[in-house]
Amino acid sequence: MAMSLRRARSRLWAGVPEPRDDVTLDVVAMRRRHVRHVVAIEERIFPRPWSSALYLSEISSPATRVYVVGLVDGAVVGYAGAMLVAGEGHVTTVGVAPEWHRRGVGMRLLYRLVTELRERGCHALTLEVRMSNRGAQQLYALFGFVPVGVRKDYYPEVNEDGLVMWAYDVDSDAYAARLEGLAARIGAIAKRDVRP
Ligand SMILES: CC(C)(COP(=O)(O)OP(=O)(O)OC[C@H]1O[C@@H](n2cnc3c(N)ncnc32)[C@H](O)[C@@H]1OP(=O)(O)O)[C@@H](O)C(=O)NCCC(=O)NCCS
Repeated sequence: MAMSLRRARSRLWAGVPEPRDDVTLDVVAMRRRHVRHVVAIEERIFPRPWSSALYLSEISSPATRVYVVGLVDGAVVGYAGAMLVAGEGHVTTVGVAPEWHRRGVGMRLLYRLVTELRERGCHALTLEVRMSNRGAQQLYALFGFVPVGVRKDYYPEVNEDGLVMWAYDVDSDAYAARLEGLAARIGAIAKRDVRP
């Protein structure tokens, strides 16, 4: 199927609401019922989208995984996930439906993810991001991620290297102060987050 048609169908299936200003974003743990909507967004934003089976496998390991979705009127508009390994949180995915970009959704999802990783004992966080994905890199920089290295050909599907970023000492008071600053920037959203 042509990519554009597949993406258009994904959008319909995802049931992503039109963006508007007077909305509340609820951030909740990703459940099985969210997965097909997550994948429909995933297929629109990533050249090599993860499958439903992969997401279902990820969320079936809650001891070592944290996955959240952002909901508007109950519909998924974004998602984020991470894996915990020996006190480190490896962010595996962050995605927002294109029509909801630059409305603070990615920041809110990452805030929740990072908060939960800290609560679960992480002292450092890492991720890979395409070298050319400056927008995502800027978002990660807000959370204290700094470029540390390059993984050659990490994204063969787009023929790109991966930039490795780390946020260190996320269990420190200084990092807590950084998060407080971000919470102030995103206003009341941190209080609105709904715990699973
Ligand atoms: C990267 C992504 C998750 C950002 O989500 P978002 O909801 O649009 O991000 P936010 O609105 O929360 O952005 C918060 C801040 O991050 C930075 N930022 C986010 N996207 C940016 C962009 N495209 N260009 C420059 N800065 C950007 C800005 O500082 C922004 O604050 P501002 O809007 O007040 O300037 C989203 O663009 C996306 O899903 N992209 C496709 C998938 C992807 O690349 N995921 C990351 C893979 S590692």
